[in-house]
This record gives sequence, structure tokens and C-alpha cells, in this order.
Amino acid sequence: MKGIVAPDVEAYIERLADRGDAALREVERQGTSEGWPIVGPAEGSLLHVLALAVGARRILELGTAIGYSGTWLARALSEDGELVTVEGDPDTAKIAQTNFGKTGVASRARILVGMAEEVLEDLEGPFDLVFNDIDKAGYPAVLEPCVRRLRVGGLLVTDNVLWGGDVARKGRSAETRAIREYNERLAKDPRMVAVILPLRDGVSVAMKIRD
Ligand SMILES: C[S@@+](CC[C@H](N)C(=O)[O-])C[C@H]1O[C@@H](n2cnc3c(N)ncnc32)[C@H](O)[C@@H]1O
Repeated sequence: MKGIVAPDVEAYIERLADRGDAALREVERQGTSEGWPIVGPAEGSLLHVLALAVGARRILELGTAIGYSGTWLARALSEDGELVTVEGDPDTAKIAQTNFGKTGVASRARILVGMAEEVLEDLEGPFDLVFNDIDKAGYPAVLEPCVRRLRVGGLLVTDNVLWGGDVARKGRSAETRAIREYNERLAKDPRMVAVILPLRDGVSVAMKIRD
């Protein structure tokens, strides 16, 4: 993760963010010590707040990793709510399943193992919130399936959309080009109203306003 906010400001934001309880902090520590690219407490809190704000009962996450962002999202659901979270790596999915047990959300979290592009084909909406955090080169392929599976009034939240600022400069890597295409298509989509927040590596928040 390449931060785009000045490091002292970033540290200030992270210091004031809700860190969850001991179990979630333990997953955060695991993420840091083992080098997992998790969203951290400030973005985790943002996901939690956004899910609460739309009264989410059904959430889709693409990119489970060790279940850190998934826990923030699942904790915003009511008891009968559901987080469906997609992870391409089966070993990683096992770690997430264990962590969902530790953070108390296992009954609300369903992990689907497979590549998001393929899993989405058989996954029916509507969802109240979709969080996209898969490999960046894969962003354009999942945009339309995500928008289609959102209810009107639902949110599509996407991580790393500024890619260290490269999207705004002359970056030509496959990831930079893919994220740029994703951001531009989202900005022009008449079904969506989108804004990019310069939190961490850039977080896009887009509401579906019509089918
Ligand atoms: C950036 S990490 C997700 C971090 C997680 N959202 C968090 O903050 O706790 C991306 C995860 O998505 C998985 N992944 C990457 N591309 C994928 C794809 N196309 N389909 C499914 N999973 C994918 C990776 O194996 C990795 O575990």
C-alpha cells in the first residue's frame, strides 16, 4: 500500500480511528506482522460506517484476505444479515474462516473460494454494499457485474483507486491503467454517483441512483 496522504496526517487519522475490540486488533496485528495488505482501522471504520449508513443487510466483498475488512463489514450487519466474501486463494480463505470465528462474525460471513470474475457469474444480487479489493488489474472486469448486483441506494466501495497517485500522473503499469479505466467508467456511469476519498491509497465511494 502506497500512502498518498502526508505520513504525519495519515498517522493522526489512523491514531484516532476506532480499532475495534481485542479480537479485531489481533487480526490487525497478524496483518501487520505477516505482511497482509489489509485496509487498517481508518478504512475499516469507514466501511463499517458506510454499511451502517445504508442499513446494509447483504454485503458483498471481493478480496477476503485474512478477514480483516470483512469483520468490519459483517459487524455492521444485523443478526440476520449476510456478508458474502470472495477469495481466490483457498489457503487464505481458511485463515479468514478461522479469524471470522475469533471475531464473532462466522455465522454472518460466507466465504466463496474462487476468482471474483467467475464467482460473480453465479452470484445473485441485490446487495446493499459491495467492497472491491481484489488484484487491481482485475478491477475493470468486475465493475459491471458489481453495479448490476447493487440495489438502488446501495454503495460500491473500492480500495486503492489512487494507486499511490500514479493514476493522476503518467503511470503506465497494468494496474495503473486498469484502475484509471475503472475510475473513469465509474465517473461516467449514469447509474452511479461517485467520489474518491484521499484516505490511505484512495477509496472510491459510489452510490447507485438508478437501474
Ligand atoms: C488486498 S487483499 C484484501 C484485503 C482485505 N480486503 C482486507 O483489507 O482485510 C486482496 C485479496 O484478494 C485476493 N484476490 C486477488 N485477486 C482476486 C480475484 N480476482 N478474485 C478473488 N480473490 C482475489 C487475494 O488473494 C488477496 O487475499
